[in-house]
Amino acid sequence: MLSTEIPWETQLGRKRWRRPPWEKEMETTNVGEDGDDEKGMVLFKRECNDKDCKLGQNNPTGMEFKDHRELRLIHIIGRNGQYGLWSLKNTLLYYIRLPCTLNLHTEFTNKTHRELRMKLKVLIIGGTGYIGKRLVKASLQQGHETYVLQRSDIGGDVEKVQMLLSFKKQGARLLIGSFNDHRSLVEAVKQVDIVICTISGGHQLLLQLKLVVAIKEAGNIKRFLPSEFGANPARMGDAMEQGRAIFDDKMVVRKAIEDAGIPFTYVSANCFAGIFVGGLCQVGHFLPSRESVVLYGDGNQKAVFMDEDDVAAYTIRTIDDPRTVNKTVYLRPPANILSQREVVGIWEKLIGKELKKSSLSEQNILNIMKEKDLAEQGVWSHFYHFFYQGCLANFEIEDDAEEAFLLYPDIKYTKMEDYLKQYL
Ligand SMILES: NC(=O)c1ccc[n+]([C@@H]2O[C@H](COP(=O)([O-])OP(=O)(O)OC[C@H]3O[C@@H](n4cnc5c(N)ncnc54)[C@H](OP(=O)(O)O)[C@@H]3O)[C@@H](O)[C@H]2O)c1
Repeated sequence: MLSTEIPWETQLGRKRWRRPPWEKEMETTNVGEDGDDEKGMVLFKRECNDKDCKLGQNNPTGMEFKDHRELRLIHIIGRNGQYGLWSLKNTLLYYIRLPCTLNLHTEFTNKTHRELRMKLKVLIIGGTGYIGKRLVKASLQQGHETYVLQRSDIGGDVEKVQMLLSFKKQGARLLIGSFNDHRSLVEAVKQVDIVICTISGGHQLLLQLKLVVAIKEAGNIKRFLPSEFGANPARMGDAMEQGRAIFDDKMVVRKAIEDAGIPFTYVSANCFAGIFVGGLCQVGHFLPSRESVVLYGDGNQKAVFMDEDDVAAYTIRTIDDPRTVNKTVYLRPPANILSQREVVGIWEKLIGKELKKSSLSEQNILNIMKEKDLAEQGVWSHFYHFFYQGCLANFEIEDDAEEAFLLYPDIKYTKMEDYLKQYL
């Protein structure tokens, strides 16, 4: 049973708020005037100091608590129902819509919590892509009503058609539309709350400008996550010419979003492990050698590696999180900040064998690049920035950005040792 001798406080700096219906049952402090805030939601916070608190033992967050008193329950009372917000210390974890009236004696299980979390309508554009298909899965897994754009121009790509059908089997809905048909984009966007775009970084990024116009016109989107998911383009202004286009295009899209006043989250996902770790960080290699490896310089510059499913899980968690609105969220879990040499060391330990190592000097990589075609030069230039300059990990996360590992400590992210075990 929760103690009733717990003070209520205003939360998140809201000034005007309502009393919770059970407030009279409690000894309260800091209870303000009745009132509505602009969004029809009011927040209250309560810290649990009761040693018999059942929430600590049977908490809805899926997290393990050393001390149940770390858990805080924040209730949000809204005009149209009730909302709950759970947090650990000062970190907000969950934002859930409660279908029932929460009372002091409500007990939650993980299952009820999953059912209670606010369900959003999420549209994924580029859903058949490398990261897009994982986002579809994560959105479904996290209980959101998930929509996938079925581009009317995918033509005869039977693999894509099959994948779209498999999404449908898993519970997603397909919305037909095309970047060449403005109305179809507006109609698709109107049906959802959140839009996540993962279209190809190749040459398609600027297509998103059409999407921005559609989202602006539709006027209902609570959050737009454009196709980012790599190095933060805002930090890549000095990137080499050959690989700059992708960062420049992402910045053009950012500007359009911000000019249009659309709420956004930019996910900086660093290195997808399948592309980088699988081949021990060597350009064009996706399987780890058991014989040899070429190190970039001394191989000691740190980068950040992410299991693609974790990228998707973190990304979906951001979409209804008030802390991530209009922010960049970095995916940078501490155990995955590794140098190429460390990645190689993990693999060597797994196979029980030392690889033959050679080193590619900075000058050599620049010479190699010159012989490549333009698209390949772009890829090599990214590797150059990541593994010679360490541009993914050589800075502190900006004050106005967030780090997903800190926001969602309950996500058990995949460490690269476990990732590499797949290749054994
Ligand atoms: N961090 C990393 O290591 C890393 C690695 C790769 C990519 N990325 C970034 O992740 C994002 C997504 O890349 P990805 O590799 O997942 O992309 P991808 O698999 O190459 O393509 C994603 C989707 O874009 C859509 N698309 C392709 N051509 C299109 C066109 N002409 N018109 C409209 N839609 C088109 C397709 O979706 P539909 O057919 O389903 O519509 C396609 O499946 C990019 O921003 C990229 O820069 C990051």
